[in-house]
Amino acid sequence: MEATGRTVLYVCSVLGILTGVNSEFIHVPTLRHHGIEGKSLLLSVETRFPLDEVEIQGTWSHTRPSGTRTTLVTFTKDATITDMMYRNNLLFREPNVSLLIQKLNQDDEGDYHLSLNIEFHNKTGLVIKEERTVHVTVDVPVSTPVIDKNPSNAVVEDKANVTWTCSVERGTRVVFQWLRDNVALGPSERYYYSQDKSTLLISPVRKEDKGTYCCVASNAVSWGQHSRLVELNVYYGPYNLEVNSDHGLRTGEVFTINPGELVYFECQADSNPPNSYIWISKSRNSTQVINEGPRLEVRSYRLAQAEEYMCRAFNNVTQKQDEAQFTLLVASLGTGKEREKQTAEGSSVSPLAAIIVCCLFVIGSMLLFFLRRSCHPKRVLMSIYNRPLSEQKRPHRSGHMDATEDFGIYEFVSIPGKMESAQASCRSLARLESVQDMHTTIYDVIRHVPETPSHSLLK
Ligand SMILES: *[C@@H]1O[C@H](CO)[C@@H](O)[C@H](O)[C@H]1NC(C)=O
Ligand SMILES: *[C@@H]1O[C@H](CO)[C@@H](O)[C@H](O)[C@H]1NC(C)=O
Ligand SMILES: *[C@@H]1O[C@H](CO)[C@@H](O)[C@H](O)[C@H]1NC(C)=O
Ligand SMILES: *[C@@H]1O[C@H](CO)[C@@H](O)[C@H](O)[C@H]1NC(C)=O
Ligand SMILES: *[C@@H]1O[C@H](CO)[C@@H](O)[C@H](O)[C@H]1NC(C)=O
Repeated sequence: MEATGRTVLYVCSVLGILTGVNSEFIHVPTLRHHGIEGKSLLLSVETRFPLDEVEIQGTWSHTRPSGTRTTLVTFTKDATITDMMYRNNLLFREPNVSLLIQKLNQDDEGDYHLSLNIEFHNKTGLVIKEERTVHVTVDVPVSTPVIDKNPSNAVVEDKANVTWTCSVERGTRVVFQWLRDNVALGPSERYYYSQDKSTLLISPVRKEDKGTYCCVASNAVSWGQHSRLVELNVYYGPYNLEVNSDHGLRTGEVFTINPGELVYFECQADSNPPNSYIWISKSRNSTQVINEGPRLEVRSYRLAQAEEYMCRAFNNVTQKQDEAQFTLLVASLGTGKEREKQTAEGSSVSPLAAIIVCCLFVIGSMLLFFLRRSCHPKRVLMSIYNRPLSEQKRPHRSGHMDATEDFGIYEFVSIPGKMESAQASCRSLARLESVQDMHTTIYDVIRHVPETPSHSLLK
């Protein structure tokens, strides 16, 4: 009774499997194996039928990557025949049909094919065939990679290339990866990799390549072997030159400061190695180096005067420089303390204003006089323009650099009709001297003509 009950149970399960949608009598948990050389590998197979109730017969065969096929094991429920060549290396053990490869080597790579025939006892004549293929690779684990850089020292941006190499002593089918500051390197048109990525050429090197590099070697059986960290130092810059001050009022490139206020200017630029800085003043007509270093100290009392300054940053190694120019304007910014200071300086301001007013007056009157003359129907020729002529008529000669020297007797010569241009040549003037109906007027220029107006007027 008990035996029949068990049999019924078996048959039910067999029938259930036979009629089931995903019916399979064997199951292979892993269809791809990454074996380690020297280690054993079990090609595991689960049987899903009661071995007591069936007859089985099958083979394990091996197909190499080259295509050579070898039958390794032929088995039935009672007997196993292992190929003599593989006797020491293969272990096939009943009752399940798993195959154990005892010591993997490179030759064991390839496809392992299991072909299994199953015949159920109560269903004589019905043979079910099951086939599975398991792929096996055999690899040597990766040793710690060794990273190398060429050139080994620091490099100059845009002028050098850097070659990184990563090598492993042991390991098969190694895949390399590169990290900078612990972040995987993304693609770049300046990066050139060898096929396996063991070599990375950066050409040309840029500022952003600066950092700490490491390479990672992996294969199917070992993950992420990191090399030591190697620093890449790139000389670059200067970039982003800036002049800043926490004093004064800034409007674009113009700093307005209170008179007498002590102001510090700070010059900054991104550079490696650090820049050397010089400060240049352009206020006194010629440029002049006034300070070295990133800081400039300025105190100015000269009101309403714009002074030009420049900070120049120079990178010793890259041989590049950058400049930033700014204007310093001294004016009262209106804070109480400064206003007091300004009134104390009022005495020095009022004479300046008086001089400016005087100058404007003289310019105006001289312009008026000049305009009246040029509106005369006859052409007016100012003999002072023509040096050889003026030499004959004037006792003094002037370079017009300093108008205070220009006092003396001036002669205006008016020629009726004939002249085409007021700027006559010496020769034409000499010819004209013979003309009788020429009118001349003599002016006496007195000494008190101020510098600027006479200078501009004569030019
Ligand atoms: C098959 O048998 C081997 C022993 O020969 C055992 O180590 C393994 O776990 C078994 N596999 C399954 C799937 O039962
Ligand atoms: C054998 O299988 C047949 C169906 O094919 C079934 O009717 C019979 O009960 C089974 N025999 C036993 C002993 O389970
Ligand atoms: C850097 O590599 C480029 C090609 O990518 C080459 O033309 C150049 O000469 C190399 N420069 C140096 C300094 O080796
Ligand atoms: C610039 O180079 C000179 C010599 O070449 C060196 O004496 C000086 O210290 C360097 N300056 C900086 C800021 O690196
Ligand atoms: C100022 O510069 C001008 C030309 O740029 C020159 O003619 C003049 O002599 C200079 N003056 C001084 C005081 O250097």
